[in-house]
Amino acid sequence: MNCTLTILSSENGNNIQLACSAGERLYDVLARNGIRFSAPCGGKGKCGKCRVHAWGGIKTDNDGTCLICKTYIENDCTIDFNEKHARVLTGGIVNTFETDGHKGLGLAADIGTTTIAVYLMDMLTGKELARTSMLNPQRIHGADVISRLQYALISEDNRRTLSNEIHTALDEAGRILLEKAGLSNQSILLSAFAGNTVMMHLASGYDASGLAKAPFIPYYTAAHRRTVYGKKVFLGGCVSGYVGADTTAAMLACGFDTGDETVLLIDIGTNGEIVLRDKGRYFCCSCAAGPAFEGAHITCGTGAVDGAIDHLTERGSGFTYTTINGAEPSGICGSGLIDAIAYLARNKSINPMGRMGERFYISDNVFIAPEDVREVQLAKAAIAAGIEILCSKAQISYGEIDKVYLAGGFGNCISVASACSIGLLPKEIEHKTTGVGNAAGDGIKMQLLSEASVRRAEKLRRLTEYVELSAEPDFEDIFSDNLLFY
Ligand code: FES
Repeated sequence: MNCTLTILSSENGNNIQLACSAGERLYDVLARNGIRFSAPCGGKGKCGKCRVHAWGGIKTDNDGTCLICKTYIENDCTIDFNEKHARVLTGGIVNTFETDGHKGLGLAADIGTTTIAVYLMDMLTGKELARTSMLNPQRIHGADVISRLQYALISEDNRRTLSNEIHTALDEAGRILLEKAGLSNQSILLSAFAGNTVMMHLASGYDASGLAKAPFIPYYTAAHRRTVYGKKVFLGGCVSGYVGADTTAAMLACGFDTGDETVLLIDIGTNGEIVLRDKGRYFCCSCAAGPAFEGAHITCGTGAVDGAIDHLTERGSGFTYTTINGAEPSGICGSGLIDAIAYLARNKSINPMGRMGERFYISDNVFIAPEDVREVQLAKAAIAAGIEILCSKAQISYGEIDKVYLAGGFGNCISVASACSIGLLPKEIEHKTTGVGNAAGDGIKMQLLSEASVRRAEKLRRLTEYVELSAEPDFEDIFSDNLLFY
């Protein structure tokens, strides 16, 4: 039986109507029609984050909601698909960009697993003309790179779907940016991409199967140009299967090839990448921190959307909190989560092993559950173990680190004091940190505009030694030690 699925839209008042058949899964109808939504567990019914309000010919729970991935259409029905837009960090630290003096327009894109930031650049002057950001449309296939890879490896069609989703999003971004800059009659000469190694392979159409199993060999690592979907594209160089072109770009933007201080770069996104430079040597690693700090796998977790609790501060015998844009609390994002766990640990509501008795309610509807503490524990131990192992490779103590760059939206928003107090970051670096925003975005702009920057990035990439944490003999012990809350 043919039926109609109506999607309520509050953005412009235009509802969307989709043709479907009774018996089809809601998830499949939305995905087939290119409707974007979040499905952190890849549609397996485990995360509960694809819940929407629904009515009509569709079964709902008592509260009138259903899971997109678990619900089948029975007849004409309506869903309120009023997804909030996540705050995406697009600013960095580089103010002036050198160019090779080519006339024309270029697009620089930092393709993250969760979000994509895109910049329109004047290739002659190096000026940024406009910028935009969006959620990665691939997120309906899962929150992390592993789910995306698993999906890609099922069939050639799936791989093409993932690739198409990125390019459709980038085409849309290009159109928006040209319009914003008042240059709709012009075209883009060259696009440059940075991203983790999996995103780079999916965006460039290269075979990503080598990244799905040990020893995680990428199809390409060196930066190069290529024609993708009929467009000229520059692909930033990747260090390894799990340290991608975004890290190389961030190192370039932070000037890792200049000066002689001991410097640490930490980029906590859907995964965590860490680079340490000491006495001309470069060590890097990728930490399987998982997407907990982006709100996935946390009971009331959410991205950095309006209403997300982003900070919690101890006040007298209690606490206060803030939400993004002062909206009614609707969930908790990574920075709020770290503050809340730090508060609970300080007040002994969490013991050193991470055990917590009852739920901790921050507001009527947002709480931290004991299982959330476990997720944070695993994520923070992964990052802390990564830092510890890189320092031991370089044979330095934390006190010898001169500067720490925290990249990414999360790194820019967290309270460093809270992160240090729960052992996510070493206490010794608390007063040495600088937020560098979307340094990867800056680094890919630099490479879009100048061959000299491409050469510098390539040199950094070649010099950087990848450390596979799980292959380190004492990794398990270090990881276990770092699970503790002191
Ligand atoms: S529960 Fe539906 S995507 Fe996770």
